[in-house]
Amino acid sequence: MEVTADGWRKMWKESDMPCHYRNHVHKLLQSNFCGQVEGRRDLYIFVPLCGKTLDMRWLAEQGNHVVGVDMVETPVRTFFETEKLDFVVENSDTGPLYKTADGRIKVHVCDLFRLSKETLGVFDVIWDRAAFVALNRTDRQRYVSLLKSLMAEGCRYLLSAVDMKKAGGEPHKGPPQVTRAEDIQALFGNEYTVSFVEGLDCTPDADPVWDVEWFYENLYLIQMRKSA
Ligand SMILES: C[S@@+](CC[C@H](N)C(=O)[O-])C[C@H]1O[C@@H](n2cnc3c(N)ncnc32)[C@H](O)[C@@H]1O
Repeated sequence: MEVTADGWRKMWKESDMPCHYRNHVHKLLQSNFCGQVEGRRDLYIFVPLCGKTLDMRWLAEQGNHVVGVDMVETPVRTFFETEKLDFVVENSDTGPLYKTADGRIKVHVCDLFRLSKETLGVFDVIWDRAAFVALNRTDRQRYVSLLKSLMAEGCRYLLSAVDMKKAGGEPHKGPPQVTRAEDIQALFGNEYTVSFVEGLDCTPDADPVWDVEWFYENLYLIQMRKSA
């Protein structure tokens, strides 16, 4: 099933708590982030297709600079307001740019594909949860090309992918798109390594309409291969 920009706007209009939303920091992020970055701070972290995830606040509280992007303004505004952040909204060339007063969190309201390395810069970490897997399969290759261009040297790209088995055994049409290590590797190519980090059984959180027997979020680390 393809989701259009209007489809995402409709989703946020109809529900402030869509099924992908978690009212807590993501467990895979919380349990793995510090180890993955070896306790470093002041990192530049990209959160594509961020919605109103609380992960942004948590990442900033760990002493980092966070940049998010979402094409729908409602969740972005809700995030800054409900988290009671001191913020301003600037008009940038690509649309509204929400910024905390200390500049630690910035969120562009914009179609991700209108942004580039020139507008965003490069990042030490990418936290991709319900982003890669939310995209239409036809957009995956250009998404990966863009995200690769945003990876600074040594960047750790943390991708939470989903895997599930439907009770009836039929494939899930998505979103979320079932995504396994081999799918990620094929898109990133041999210059990148894809390593499994941790799996989380999220079966109780799965949308009942998906009718799953089991549903997992699996965390992968994607890194540029070091040249020999
Ligand atoms: C499934 S939600 C995930 C939100 C967040 N990552 C989380 O974990 O809660 C996907 C989000 O991507 C946004 N989105 C979809 N396509 C986009 C695009 N091309 N550019 C920017 N945002 C997009 C939608 O508006 C939606 O908020």
